[in-house]
Amino acid sequence: MNQKKQIDPAKAILSWYRKHGRDLPWRHTSDPYHIWVLEIIMQQTQVSRGTEYYERFIAKFPDIFALAKATWRNVLPVWRGLGYYRRGQNMLKTAKVLVADYGGEFPSDRDELLRLPGVGPYTAAALQSFAFRKPVPALDTNLFRVLSRYYGVTKERVPELAEELYLAHPRSSAKLNHGLMDIGALICKSKKVLCEECPLSSHCHFRMIGAPLTTPSRSTRKKVECDIELAVGCLIHHDQYFLSSKKGRYSSFPAYPCATKSQTRQVLKESLKVDYKIEVAVRPPFVSIEGEYRGRSYRLHYCRCRVLKGDLNRSALRSIKRDRVKTSSWSEIDREILAQL
Ligand code: ADE
Repeated sequence: MNQKKQIDPAKAILSWYRKHGRDLPWRHTSDPYHIWVLEIIMQQTQVSRGTEYYERFIAKFPDIFALAKATWRNVLPVWRGLGYYRRGQNMLKTAKVLVADYGGEFPSDRDELLRLPGVGPYTAAALQSFAFRKPVPALDTNLFRVLSRYYGVTKERVPELAEELYLAHPRSSAKLNHGLMDIGALICKSKKVLCEECPLSSHCHFRMIGAPLTTPSRSTRKKVECDIELAVGCLIHHDQYFLSSKKGRYSSFPAYPCATKSQTRQVLKESLKVDYKIEVAVRPPFVSIEGEYRGRSYRLHYCRCRVLKGDLNRSALRSIKRDRVKTSSWSEIDREILAQL
C-alpha cells in the first residue's frame, strides 16, 4: 500500500490564507489595545456585528488611557445591544489596572494577562499571538474543531498538537491563527463541511475516515450497512501486548473508525503515529468480525502491526505481559482474537 507523503499543514494553511483569508479591519494592526478590544467584543458575537461595535468602540475610546478615564455610564452607550454587559465592565476594570500598575501597557506574559479581569486563556493567547507575535495557538471553538478533525483526535489532545505545529513556524503564528479561524468559519463548519475547498483535506483524518462532503441531517443520512466500522491494531512485541491508553471497561488494542475495510491499514498507520508517535507496518486484516451492541451494528477488522520506528515502552500505550492476558479483562470478541494471535 502506498504510504501517504506527510505534508506540513502549516504551509497549506498559510498559502490558503494568503489567497482566501478574510480582510478584516483588525487584521492590519498589532496594537494590543485594539486586539484586546476586538477579542472581548467578539466573544459570543458574529463577525459582521462585532466589526461594527469594534469600530465604534475604538472611535470613542482610541486608547487605554481614554478608556481608563471613563465610567460605565460613558461605556454603556457604545456597548448597548451587545449583551453580556459584564464583559464591558471588566474591560473598564482592566483599563484602570493597566494604567495604574503597568503604565498603560499590556503585559505579554500569559500568567500576567490571565490576572486581568475578563481575560481568559483564549484572550491571553490571542493577545500573545496577534499583538506580541508569540508562537501561541489561539484555540477558540473554530480551531478546536478544525484541528481535532484534521488530526483525528479528541479536543483534549488539540492543545499539544497545535503547540507543536506553531512552534515549528514561530513567526507565522498570527497568520496561522487567522487562517485556521477562517477555515473554521468558511469551510470546516460544525454542520456543513466543504472538504473540497479545504487546503487540509488531502491529509485530514476526518475526511479520510469517510466523512461526507456535507454532513447530511439525520433524516437524509444514507442507510449504511453497518453503524460502526473499526480498524483494530494488534500490537505485540516480544512478550508484551500494547493496549489503547483509553480507559474503558475492557482492555483493548487501539481501534479507530474507518469507512471501509480497504482503509484499515492506512487509518491504523496514521492514527498510531498521531496518537502514540510510533510508525508501524500493518498487515491486511486477518479477521473481520460483525456483531451488534445496544442496537448498533459494528464490524471490527483486526490487523497485526509491527513497530518500525518509535519506542513502544515509552509511548502512551499500556503494556501487558502475554502471560497476564488470561487474567485481565477483555471483551468476549477480543478473547477469541487473542487466541488466534
Ligand atoms: N473572532 C475572534 N477573534 C477573531 C479574529 N481575530 N478573526 C476572526 N474572527 C475572530
